[in-house]
Amino acid sequence: MNTQAWIHHFEINTRLNDHLELPDVPCALPESVRGPLAASIATFQLGESGTGSRLRRYAREVAPLENFRGYQRAIDLFIAEEQSHSQLLARVVGHLGGTLLTKQWTNSVFRRLRFLVNLEFAVQVLLTAELIAEVYYGTLYLRADDPVVHRMSQKILRDEMKHLAFQREFLSERVATFSPIGRWLWRCQFQAIHAVTATVVAWDHRLALRALGVSPADFRRRCLHAWERFQSRLEQSVETCASGQTAIVSGVAGAGLQRMDR
Ligand SMILES: [Fe+2]
Ligand SMILES: [Fe+2]
Repeated sequence: MNTQAWIHHFEINTRLNDHLELPDVPCALPESVRGPLAASIATFQLGESGTGSRLRRYAREVAPLENFRGYQRAIDLFIAEEQSHSQLLARVVGHLGGTLLTKQWTNSVFRRLRFLVNLEFAVQVLLTAELIAEVYYGTLYLRADDPVVHRMSQKILRDEMKHLAFQREFLSERVATFSPIGRWLWRCQFQAIHAVTATVVAWDHRLALRALGVSPADFRRRCLHAWERFQSRLEQSVETCASGQTAIVSGVAGAGLQRMDR
């Protein structure tokens, strides 16, 4: 994994969020849109506000591996970027006249789920949220007729697309070490958890989605398409990593045989 490139990316990009200027205009959205949208964005704001302490702890597991050198630093910067999203979203909730949340049930479930198994699962649960966030911020960008929401969603959408690439690079190297049946099982549970989560999020945010002219069923469908796109790219990366690992193993074995011949 090219952790140095990610460290460089996060170091530069997160600063842009902290200094992102939002248009200085009052909210002109009708009440029927403003209220549900503020409540919906407040839920995402809470979701982005975690300290990531357990994820950091899990990241130590791969620290001794040569191909993940620097991953811990990249994870620290990644978490800082998510927190910068939380601050940016808090500014937008204020602009919409909404109230920030301290607790929300879907967020609590997500946080508990994320730390049940291991690093791969923690990253997968995060990734599930980010795949849904990609569709959510894309919907806000296209549908919310407000310059502040537009600016925020454009920036976070760009960041989240990079986050998807970051998680894909990590997972492709890890999943490549699984057996074929292990990979198949991993894919099945990932798809199932994503589908259930997309259904719950579509229902939970139905008022805001409808106010923006998107049905919860359509939102869910778009989320499932996003998963399929991601999974097919992940599988390509896994194949590339797996063939690279096979080449290394056969190279080592070949070198060993040559030494035995001497
Ligand atoms: Fe985020
Ligand atoms: Fe993210």
